[in-house]
Amino acid sequence: MRKLHPVAVFTLAILLFEHCATVTLTRLTQQRIDAPRPIPCVVVFLTEALKLLMSMCLELTNCGGLGSASTFGRLRDALCSSPQDTLRLSVPAVLYTIQNLAIFVALGNLEVVIFQVLYQTKLLLTAVLSVLLLGRRLTPRQWFALLALTFGVICVELSDGSTSGGGRSGSSGSGSPSPAKDLASEARRSRHEMLGVLAALLAALLSSLAGVYFEAIVKKAEAAAPSLWVRNVQLCVFTLPIAAATVGWQWSAVRAQGLVLDPPTVLLVVLNATGGLLVAAVIKYGDNILKNFTTACSVIIGTLISVVLFDFQLTVSFAWGSLLVASSAYVFATSPEPVAPSVMRTEAE
Ligand code: C5P
Repeated sequence: MRKLHPVAVFTLAILLFEHCATVTLTRLTQQRIDAPRPIPCVVVFLTEALKLLMSMCLELTNCGGLGSASTFGRLRDALCSSPQDTLRLSVPAVLYTIQNLAIFVALGNLEVVIFQVLYQTKLLLTAVLSVLLLGRRLTPRQWFALLALTFGVICVELSDGSTSGGGRSGSSGSGSPSPAKDLASEARRSRHEMLGVLAALLAALLSSLAGVYFEAIVKKAEAAAPSLWVRNVQLCVFTLPIAAATVGWQWSAVRAQGLVLDPPTVLLVVLNATGGLLVAAVIKYGDNILKNFTTACSVIIGTLISVVLFDFQLTVSFAWGSLLVASSAYVFATSPEPVAPSVMRTEAE
């Protein structure tokens, strides 16, 4: 079994609960009908701004206190001394920004649990990309765990037909709606669902690509490599203007609706920003695959929350799927690390 860095264990544990809370809160703010919904691009922009502030504070605290002028100088040097180095962060920045917007579209059109399930396709994608781009080695047992996880996810997905069907017919009223109206609303609903499914899958692909790219940068053995927090500041250098541009692009909607900075929205921004920094730490001290197993396990906690908040009905198929997700995470975590070819040769001799 692989030994994890203590920082990785600590951050993975927090990420498990943070991820659940973020998705549930996003769902609450995007689906409420009694109050205006926050506009996604505003939430993304505020999150990036807060992340920049938090990363700068963490870096400055790290190198000797917020009040020290020399630490500000070091931060400025890290950003300006090597523009090519900073420029490398533009790739994950663009991918993450589009991913964040796609998540909002998906959550606005899908059940929270279904979104979480579809989004877990990033697990296989990330594993494949880690092998192809980072040279990561996985044992057959670990691939088996990844496949079992995918199967568990499909089980949960299939359970949607029975669960959401019951819930929706209940919400459509108990009168006798006309068949034509029923057909029209059914068509509208399936269009919305298709959009949600596509947005969730796009977010999964972008998450995998961005995560693997970011891992390659933060794990590259370089002399005098910038700290993790400087890397995040560099990331924000790109994400913040992109997020600002999307706010500008949707300015008429933002003006009409206002910023909608009520407590749930502010909490969502804080959770998103904290989650982003947690993900960065997990990627540096652990890896993307571990991070994804953690968020896959949060599907189970998310389900329990959905049962209470969104009247989600548990089915046998869902329960089996969730069990598979949890047990595959266990099998993956307890798998011995693959032996490097050179070590195998030495042992054979
Ligand atoms: O779903 P996934 O785990 O890929 O989400 C990662 C999230 O973490 C993204 O929303 C991204 O904005 C955030 N992140 C970050 N800073 C990093 C790496 C990821 O804010 N260095």
